[in-house]
Amino acid sequence: MNVSDLREILQYVPRFRERIFVIAVDGTVAASANFPNILLDLAVLRSLSIRVVLVHGASHQIEELATKRGIKVTNSDGTGITNETTLELAIDAAIRLTNSIMEGLSAVDLRAAYANAIIAHPAGILGGTDQLFTGRVERVDNHALELLLKEGIIPVIPPLGFDGEGRTYRVNSDGIALEVAESLHAAKIIFLGADEVVGGTHPLPRQLSIDESDEMVRKLRISGANAGLISKLECSSRACRGGVPRAHLLDGRINEALLTEIFSHEGSGTMIYSNEYQQIRRIFKKDVRSVMALIRQSVEDEEITRRTRADILDRIEDYWILEIDRTPIACVALHTHPDQSLAEMACLYVSKAHENKGFGRKLMAFAENLAKEKGMERIYALSTRAVNYLQQKGGFVETDAELLPDERRSRYEGSRRNSKILIKELRSRNS
Ligand code: ARG
Repeated sequence: MNVSDLREILQYVPRFRERIFVIAVDGTVAASANFPNILLDLAVLRSLSIRVVLVHGASHQIEELATKRGIKVTNSDGTGITNETTLELAIDAAIRLTNSIMEGLSAVDLRAAYANAIIAHPAGILGGTDQLFTGRVERVDNHALELLLKEGIIPVIPPLGFDGEGRTYRVNSDGIALEVAESLHAAKIIFLGADEVVGGTHPLPRQLSIDESDEMVRKLRISGANAGLISKLECSSRACRGGVPRAHLLDGRINEALLTEIFSHEGSGTMIYSNEYQQIRRIFKKDVRSVMALIRQSVEDEEITRRTRADILDRIEDYWILEIDRTPIACVALHTHPDQSLAEMACLYVSKAHENKGFGRKLMAFAENLAKEKGMERIYALSTRAVNYLQQKGGFVETDAELLPDERRSRYEGSRRNSKILIKELRSRNS
């Protein structure tokens, strides 16, 4: 591990301390070889004073038990009809799993409790069919959950709910996680799923705003995608709209997926977010120091031209940074020569820890758009070591110093860097 990783980790620790994370584990994940690692990771979260509520699914266990007992269930994931036999079997399978999770938590010295905190009502008649013992969450007894959390106890919530008459209902765990997260004002809801969260042939993007996530749900519905994925994305959007700033979909079978997601800038899975995450913004005087720190190594490696603080301040309105969670990770500058409709893209840099993730391309596209908006027709860049990159990823072509405006040309010649000069047309001449 290097220091920049450590910085990333340490940035998130105070941000999440004392906050509530609702972690929703699918039955398949609870049965996977990685589950003991997840429990260890929960111990790490607890040691950092993060409050954890564990919600679990059980459809995998229900199906297994049904096969073992030779019973046919009417539905296993709490989204269809639950008849009486199915309910009996669901209670057996779910509570066994709750119990084995409790055992696992004890093994890593974590205190846990099972509470009847989900108050449910029958789902009722849908599309003309009575859903029988399938329930929906009516209310969450957040007072009970908060008491446990305050004592450092992890509430473990099975996919079942209770009404005031002493009846049990089968409730889908994604919906429970959503309701619990909303009512506890959680900082996060984290779905640990299996195949469905990987996205199959269309891998899910690394992050989605709420609107993007809704749009994705719409598309997935049309294409008949996995119902588990649709449900998790939908619950994520709803959670974000309901005040939970971030929801995450992770592959729970991968070791360390959870900690990487929480404590790194880019995470390991897909994040749906309602608060500020990534942005490209202009720099201010207070940012000059961090821009200089960001590019220092690259200047030493003769990739980027040396700039003094005064150089940057002189043209501060030309500089932009890309931040993740308020940490600058990349920068670019755009200088214009309006009389020649020509712009220079300069100081393009992406920090080592964030290389090869498309941030460079993002900033290039940003600079190009900015140049177009300013009415520029061509954009050039000088480069010693990123010539291939600019050609292959940026669509620049090599040209010579003739092109440079006089003042720029004399600086170029004076610098003796012998940079290559690359150019790109921003619009076709006859358009
Ligand atoms: N570690 C941060 C968080 O937990 C950012 C995670 C970003 N993840 C992603 N898939 N883009 O909020």
